[in-house]
Amino acid sequence: MIPYGKQTIDENDKKAVIEVLESDFLTTGPKVEEFESALCKYTGAKYAVAVSNGTAALHISSLILLEKGDLVLTTPNSFLATSNSILYADAKLLFVDIKEDGNIDLDKCIEILEKNKNIKALYVVHFSGNPVEMEKLKYIREKFNIKILEDSAHAIGAIYKEGKIGNCKFSNIATFSFHPVKHITTGEGGAILTNDEEIYKKAKILRNHGMVKENFINKDLAYDKKGNLNPWYYEMQMLGFNYRITDFQCALGLSQLKKLDKFIEKRKKIAQKYDKAFENSIINPLYPFNENSSYHLYVVRVDFKKLNITKAELFYKMRKEGIFLQLHYIPINLQPYYKNLGYGDENLPNTYKYYEEAFSLPIYPSLSEEEQNYVIEKLKENLQ
Ligand SMILES: Cc1ncc(COP(=O)(O)O)c(C=O)c1O
Repeated sequence: MIPYGKQTIDENDKKAVIEVLESDFLTTGPKVEEFESALCKYTGAKYAVAVSNGTAALHISSLILLEKGDLVLTTPNSFLATSNSILYADAKLLFVDIKEDGNIDLDKCIEILEKNKNIKALYVVHFSGNPVEMEKLKYIREKFNIKILEDSAHAIGAIYKEGKIGNCKFSNIATFSFHPVKHITTGEGGAILTNDEEIYKKAKILRNHGMVKENFINKDLAYDKKGNLNPWYYEMQMLGFNYRITDFQCALGLSQLKKLDKFIEKRKKIAQKYDKAFENSIINPLYPFNENSSYHLYVVRVDFKKLNITKAELFYKMRKEGIFLQLHYIPINLQPYYKNLGYGDENLPNTYKYYEEAFSLPIYPSLSEEEQNYVIEKLKENLQ
């Protein structure tokens, strides 16, 4: 079976995890902070908070950035978690259409922002690992006083002129996911990156039940009659969660992070091979080869209206050959839950056309040459 994405685990990864399993700390221990520091070093962000998954990272971020009723611009072409996190904060979404490359159309965002002064935030997704137009993000950040979040679940290791995605040069927060299909994995895992100390502190507190052990507010509870700090004292200051990540997961993350650049090189090679194989065919890569993309996904578009096969038939046929294509994504605004909330009637022609045409091919570091050739051969054969 050839899936669309898969983890790459080696002996060093296993050793790193076993070392922690044999140590004193299984959860929150030294590896968590080590992993956070390594993420800062890798991306260039000042602060990182590692959490239990990418959705938790988005949830905490939305609670920090948004207030009830805030209107937030975002993309319909993402995994549910991006926009769900906006709903978790009781905020409202305004879905903006995408461009040819699957990323949110930032020109449209600017148009909307110019007309509607009530918009409080913009959530972008660097879809497939291809950064959104960062110059425009910079412009939005400078011109409009809104919060910006980069859902970078697809884009660790992606590059733009000002450095690496995750450095938060033009945003308040960037989030990562370390799910096994992503570039590096911790099993389940995620992270919040920021350059803002306040955000960092809040994120750490929200990760752990809203609890603090320092900066107590309630002096009566914290100190005994003699003025000594009660040794058991802890204080809840916010309604937080258990979104902690374990030490052995972070050991795996640290070990994986060392190999990230090599993983991305491999992904780029596969993308180049696919690009070449589909030249002058009806199979159109989502965008021309982009050195800056970290190629979490390799998406192609095919105009099925011109063919005798539907997209569903293609998926079934490829599955029979052992190749599991995937679709990223069903437009979020069309999901029943969102429709019940009153979304779904948006005019998003590029998104709907993309949904008809797009699908993702297998891409991961351990995908062999033979497997790549097999995918190309079977895809061409079925689309003839
Ligand atoms: C764009 C995007 N955002 C958020 C998430 C959520 O991450 P996780 O699965 O780690 O909760 C994902 C994961 O699939 C994703 O692709």
